[in-house]
Amino acid sequence: ATLLARAKQQGKNVGDIHLYHIDNGLLRTDESRKVVEYLRKVPGLEKTKLYNASKTFLRKLKGVVDPEKKRKIIGDAFVNAQKDIMKRLRLSDDTMLCQGTLYTDLIESGKGRSAKIKTHHNVGSKLVKEMRRKGLIVEPNKEIFKDEVRKLGELLGLSKEMVWRQPFPGPGLAIRIIGGAVTKKRLAILRKADDIYLDEIKKGGLEYSIWQYFAGLSCAKSVGVMGDSRTHQYMCMLRAVESKDGMTADWVRMPRAVLDRITKRIINEVDGVNRVLYDCSSKPPGTIEWE
Ligand code: XMP
Repeated sequence: ATLLARAKQQGKNVGDIHLYHIDNGLLRTDESRKVVEYLRKVPGLEKTKLYNASKTFLRKLKGVVDPEKKRKIIGDAFVNAQKDIMKRLRLSDDTMLCQGTLYTDLIESGKGRSAKIKTHHNVGSKLVKEMRRKGLIVEPNKEIFKDEVRKLGELLGLSKEMVWRQPFPGPGLAIRIIGGAVTKKRLAILRKADDIYLDEIKKGGLEYSIWQYFAGLSCAKSVGVMGDSRTHQYMCMLRAVESKDGMTADWVRMPRAVLDRITKRIINEVDGVNRVLYDCSSKPPGTIEWE
């Protein structure tokens, strides 16, 4: 968005720019509000609008368990939201979509001879492919990696907070609800657990030293004991990885005291979770996300 705004300021023929943040209902606590507030402070992006499509995304994801299906449904839903915005604004059919695709997204989605690892939401859905064929997608970062995008952000004068924001997948929390369908209840549990995780990382002074850290919710339940009674509840999974560009990653040797605090707080404060697991796999053979 900043690149587009700059191009326009420099008199390049980029046409009218409409900036939308789409709330897909799969974001973290309060995230949409914060992101929009944030973007509106950037010179050139003051007119960013919020489009709430949560209900549509959640309806389309109802009962869907397969990770690839989730990803494709979400990719299509983003394009449909864009089409709806175009209709409301009475824009022509050749309006282009600008998105922040990185080289990693293309490689992992199976570009050229690479094997398909997972369909990144911005690459492999039916509608995105169709728009790409028609030449209606603009992706200025598609040949560079995350660390290079960050350098670019710094050169453009974006704030540290924005440039060093953790990567967050387009399919959002849908692919962090593992082995099960997305429901409002599961989203609420995951948001709360993730919040605690982020808070404790911050308190532990580790906020900017870890590439990416987040919680996931396993839809397999485990048996536990609370007081005198048996519990049968979800397992919360924690992931923290070091990486340069997201292509490979190593798990973070988290200080035990921090892990201990996170675990106790999640089990005590999050209704519906009775166990916390820490993921010690690197990429490869794992990937950073679970789905
Ligand atoms: P994986 O799980 O593939 O993740 O090792 C590598 C990095 O990419 C992010 N990710 C995505 N980002 N759309 C995105 O915009 C997606 O569909 C997507 N899938 C994964 C992930 O969070 C990690 O930083």
